Amino acid sequence: MVNSPDVKQALVGESHSLKTTLRQVVEVAHFTSTPVLILGESGTGKELLANLVHAMDPRPDKGELVILDCSTIVPELAGSEFFGHERGAFTGAASSRDGVFALANGGTLFLDEIGELSPSMQTQLLRVIQEKTYKRVGGNAWQRTSFRLVCATNRDLMAQVQRGEFRADLYYRIAGFICCLPPLRERTEDILPLANHFLKQNCAHKNTPTLDKSVQEYLLRRQYPGNVRDLKQVVSRMLCRYTGEGLLTVGCIPPDERPTLSEDWKEWRDINFERAIRIALSRGLGLKTISKNTEEVAIRIAVDEENGNLQRAAQRLGVTDRALQLRRAAQRQENSA
Ligand SMILES: Nc1ncnc2c1ncn2[C@@H]1O[C@H](COP(=O)(O)OP(=O)(O)OP(=O)(O)O)[C@@H](O)[C@H]1O
Ligand SMILES: [Mg+2]
Repeated sequence: MVNSPDVKQALVGESHSLKTTLRQVVEVAHFTSTPVLILGESGTGKELLANLVHAMDPRPDKGELVILDCSTIVPELAGSEFFGHERGAFTGAASSRDGVFALANGGTLFLDEIGELSPSMQTQLLRVIQEKTYKRVGGNAWQRTSFRLVCATNRDLMAQVQRGEFRADLYYRIAGFICCLPPLRERTEDILPLANHFLKQNCAHKNTPTLDKSVQEYLLRRQYPGNVRDLKQVVSRMLCRYTGEGLLTVGCIPPDERPTLSEDWKEWRDINFERAIRIALSRGLGLKTISKNTEEVAIRIAVDEENGNLQRAAQRLGVTDRALQLRRAAQRQENSA
């Protein structure tokens, strides 16, 4: 299921961490009705994932996906947003209105930014999750509702629980299954597939342009504080400057962002490279193991980037075909030993 086109198109990415998250989420969505809590920094795809949970839910005659952003609720209207109200329930309530508990009945309720929910609404939400009944504001009749709950936040909700800002009992009810979307800096393998996806999505020209090598490097090395949303914007900005012919080159990067002139770009061994070596040394690994592993990674990436073509990979690595084959065979032997 996780390899189905629906899932692949919903959330693009090749990293192990994204794929693992997707596999788990698809399983939970398909086989259970457990509430799902999605954690992740801003722009990591939480809303997309909530949509996927709803899409993979196999209930027959499934209801709607209803989204409520808890950070935008006006306190005075919170009750009405959730429970709905009867006509005349309060000043300005000219007609009756359904709240999200009614609208999501039979479907999915996605409460975004759940960490922003006021203490009184936390208590009321807990009640509805437990009892599956509620009353409209100004109404007397009990209404029944049943929905799958998906919540998301970019805050550390557990820390909020520990500080007493978020009810622990509510936390455990909404966190039936927790999935964390890692920030883009922890899954750099996703950067180029995502960039190509956004190129395809946003390109007004007949053919989707190919990124030239230096643009690829620029995208791989850039910082993305706003995660995938940032990357999407960078691609849009580059497309604005693209003439519609040939490769998409450094000239398409807005001048104030253009990197190649700056000194530190000449140095390819970035902070992550040094960090990995520090960790290796602190674990007592010697020069031989470190070099061997570096070589292994370089070979894997080159072969991967050349789609398994060993001849081209060997060329990129600056070794002969034969040397590459021997090294790969030796690696396989060592790894299976
Ligand atoms: N894996 C992905 N594949 C394709 N598009 C993605 C992916 N992840 C995020 N996006 C896109 O990035 C943008 C941000 O995603 P989304 O709104 O789901 O993030 P979010 O975690 O809900 O962010 P916020 O915390 O700011 O609300 C959207 O335009 C979304 O389509
Ligand atoms: Mg969001």
